[in-house]
Amino acid sequence: MADQSKRSLNESAQFATSCHRQSFSVAYHYPVYFTERLFDPANPVLIETLTSLERERRHRCLVFVDDGVVSVRPSLIAQIEAYADGHTADIELVCRPIKVAGGEKIKNELFHIEWMQGLIQQHRIDRHSFVIAIGGGAVLDAVGLVAATSHRGIRLIRVPTTVLSQNDSGVGVKNSVNLKGSKNFVGTFAPPFAVLNDLDFVIDLPPREKIAGMAEAVKVALIRDAAFFGWLERHIDALSIFERGAMATMIKRCAELHMHQIARGGDPFESGSARPLDFGHWAAHKIESLTRNHVSHGEAVAIGIALDTRYSVLAGLLAAGEEDRVAALLELLGFRLWHPVLEARASDGSNPLLEGLREFREHLGGELTITLLEDIGRGIEVHGISEDRVRQSIAWLKARQSRP
Ligand SMILES: NC(=O)c1ccc[n+]([C@@H]2O[C@H](COP(=O)([O-])OP(=O)(O)OC[C@H]3O[C@@H](n4cnc5c(N)ncnc54)[C@H](O)[C@@H]3O)[C@@H](O)[C@H]2O)c1
Ligand SMILES: [Zn+2]
Repeated sequence: MADQSKRSLNESAQFATSCHRQSFSVAYHYPVYFTERLFDPANPVLIETLTSLERERRHRCLVFVDDGVVSVRPSLIAQIEAYADGHTADIELVCRPIKVAGGEKIKNELFHIEWMQGLIQQHRIDRHSFVIAIGGGAVLDAVGLVAATSHRGIRLIRVPTTVLSQNDSGVGVKNSVNLKGSKNFVGTFAPPFAVLNDLDFVIDLPPREKIAGMAEAVKVALIRDAAFFGWLERHIDALSIFERGAMATMIKRCAELHMHQIARGGDPFESGSARPLDFGHWAAHKIESLTRNHVSHGEAVAIGIALDTRYSVLAGLLAAGEEDRVAALLELLGFRLWHPVLEARASDGSNPLLEGLREFREHLGGELTITLLEDIGRGIEVHGISEDRVRQSIAWLKARQSRP
């Protein structure tokens, strides 16, 4: 019977089974600029970027601006228009820069996406025009999704305005929005056309935001660059008062290390189950959701780093004493390394933080892979985590915080 059905399948098939392997590779290149006064008409960075592929054209641009940025810098929209007016041979703004909701709001409701896609359609932005996104990581993620999905991909210039987006998310290749409470559920991998980091934006930020973005610098120093960790320790006084030069160096080195990992780490589009840049993040994601984002991403990452550094010592991977060094640096930068949610209890007595391990594995797919430390500046991947050691690490954080 089986043979008969196979025969009739072959007889009726248009194609005998065969497999032809398709294969091509696409190289991605994009510049990441570090500059100041980006929209000063004398600053050539934006013009250089727009004209880098086609010099003799007037480039059509649609600009979206984070409303949080406009609220601290109300002149920004006029400044962008004045910049375009000073360069009319190269830039055409298709309309006034458009304000969009800043922060997680823009990622929580899909209507923002459809609305922005509608504007792209209305203003006939095509694959040779530009979308320029100015804002924090949330606005860059949402506008990034819009640019990646309109006409199957429009050129996107990112202008990150927070420490976190300048030194981490803004230089990367991902975008996303949230779906019904699932963080970053809808998104794509889509490298930008260019990233333009203007230090003046981060100087405008409230202190809490400035501190939060520094967690990613500590993270990447710990897993990749001992010299950078030493630099952070030596410049703690300057960083804790957000001294301009120190902030600039910290952002630049952190961004470079992230870029290096994406380009050289062998998995830019994250198809494997390892995410070395997510050191300290399994606990951080859970702390963010358990506190309904009252603890921000960077603040949660700082706690996650301290927890996993202590864990690394308890697991015999890292020399004892290094966890104190790491925690001291984070505290001096202004982070609080304790939150009561770390010892919350579910109705069955379990600690909901530990659920974060399962969620982290599910998010990546495949085997649980957690980065720990074997030295300052050297991460190591492990595939099993002892819940008991996590509890001991939590107890250590609690004891630390109750010291006189
Ligand atoms: N795509 C990625 O690879 C990636 C990586 C990490 C994080 N993220 C995402 O980034 C988001 C967090 O980004 P964030 O930390 O940059 O914060 P954010 O975008 O949430 O912004 C925080 C607040 O600061 C305001 N703001 C932004 N720039 C400002 C400025 N210069 N002056 C004053 N206020 C300003 C915003 O309006 C908002 O209210 C999260 O949604 C996270 O998921 C994405
Ligand atoms: Zn992070």
